[in-house]
Amino acid sequence: MDRDTELSLIDELLSLKARDSAFLDASTARNPVQNYTSADRFRAEQDKVLRRQLVSAAHSSELQGSGAFLQRHINGLPVLITRDDGGHVHAYLNVCRHRGMRLVAEQTGCRHRFTCPYHAWSYANTGELIAAPQFEAGFPAQSKAELGLRRLHCEERFGFIWLTTAEHNGAQVSTYGDDLDAELEALDMQNMVIAVEHTDVRKVNWKTLLEGGLEAYHFKVAHKNTIGPYFENNLSTYQTFGPHIRSVLARSNFGALDTGSRDSWRLREHANLLYTLFPTTQLLVQQDHVIWIRLEPISVGETHVRVVTLAPRELSANQSHWQRNHGITAATLNEDFAIGEAIQAGALSGANDTFLFGRFEGALAKFNATIQQALD
Ligand code: FES
Ligand SMILES: [Fe+2]
Repeated sequence: MDRDTELSLIDELLSLKARDSAFLDASTARNPVQNYTSADRFRAEQDKVLRRQLVSAAHSSELQGSGAFLQRHINGLPVLITRDDGGHVHAYLNVCRHRGMRLVAEQTGCRHRFTCPYHAWSYANTGELIAAPQFEAGFPAQSKAELGLRRLHCEERFGFIWLTTAEHNGAQVSTYGDDLDAELEALDMQNMVIAVEHTDVRKVNWKTLLEGGLEAYHFKVAHKNTIGPYFENNLSTYQTFGPHIRSVLARSNFGALDTGSRDSWRLREHANLLYTLFPTTQLLVQQDHVIWIRLEPISVGETHVRVVTLAPRELSANQSHWQRNHGITAATLNEDFAIGEAIQAGALSGANDTFLFGRFEGALAKFNATIQQALD
């Protein structure tokens, strides 16, 4: 983030704090509850949004060295990710082109070719079909060149491997826009490693989980026993970058900035930044590390969640520190996830036809409008 942006965000939050006001959008908004409960709606989101946008499938440190591979289940599809001898990453559907057997069973490993366990068709880690027993006799007039693995759009940037699982709509991390690109680059996540992580499956629509990070209205209430005391009351602001959102959430030491000289102001020492990279990646930026939250929608009412503490490589050895830190993050997110499940359980009750977004919950309205645009 450039220094002018950093200072203007601090100025904005200090002035809101002085007026004892939250950042306010022009109006309230409503979102149909059905968007969180309808299986048809979920299928439409999967086809037209989730599978066409970029997913942060892995951190680069999970795919180290030539021949490294890993598999993932993304947007309902089996995916194989590889790194070739030149260091380039590739992604394919993890499905043999002969009769559709799963090609690779291991979650991760190192291999330059993959042999199908059914009839031994072999593929290079760059996707080509390189050998198949008795191919000429059994498959006359078939061309091996046309039987390579089904390739998915894949990029490596900002320390992550990004991919799309179906028709590519042109979205690229390199088109996130200059400002957002520079901010993500400056986080130096390519020099971080996974210090601690956990996964969970929650009975809640994916959008509810994501929305939980987009407002600070609930902090002092829902998180009163965890992080609530460490934040200002509902003091936050946000900015959109196309479909993406950067939220700034002021910590309880924010007022101390008022007294220090402007030269000494450092936003990350007094606020958390949360980047919501449309549609299923959130990066919570803390003072010296980043929490990567990856949502994997399974069905309309079920979501797989992966929460990862990314620590700078040189600080990562202090395991007890990161375990403790991750424990606080996990306890806080578990409060959010439990609330999400309770919302999902009541969503079909008919109590609400719509959910109401207040003027300080404008980021939720923007996020849902982006999905609606993609569906239309
Ligand atoms: S299904 Fe893979 S070789 Fe036959
Ligand atoms: Fe929360």
